[in-house]
Amino acid sequence: MRKKIVYAFNVSLCALAALAVIGGCSESQPGNVGDGASEQALVEPGKKTYTRFCFSCHASGVAGAPRVGDTVAWAPRLEKGAAKMLELVIQGMPPGMPARGMCMQCSDEELADALEFMLQKSQ
Ligand code: HEC
Repeated sequence: MRKKIVYAFNVSLCALAALAVIGGCSESQPGNVGDGASEQALVEPGKKTYTRFCFSCHASGVAGAPRVGDTVAWAPRLEKGAAKMLELVIQGMPPGMPARGMCMQCSDEELADALEFMLQKSQ
């Protein structure tokens, strides 16, 4: 129920933005249109993908997943660089890390945003 209200709110915001010729909503809110995106998600575009698909393992460290916020666990991974890590996210790292973090419908860009969100909190 609450989601619906947020959704309606966003739609009216989009309508306002369009009226004011600020630009199309799909341009200013990639991946978030019509999906109950909160303002927070607009500021941090990867948060939604992270919360839906990565959180389940990366919040608690399931199967040895590096926990978000655990700077020690992330330090050696950060040395590889974000581009290399994104490659690993897309391919997966058997057996623990599933390909695309289990989000088969996510675009590479959405995965990159989710990765960026995780890394920002982990260094
Ligand atoms: C089913 C649990 C699971 C899910 C869901 C999951 N991960 Fe992972 N992830 C892991 C595990 C386990 C590792 C550690 C793999 C290793 O070190 O061998 C890992 C490692 C990683 C790493 C570090 C890669 C490196 O270079 O060492 C990144 C980045 C990452 N995951 C991103 C993501 C993102 C982004 C998502 C969501 C789109 C996601 N993961 C979803 C379990 C998961």
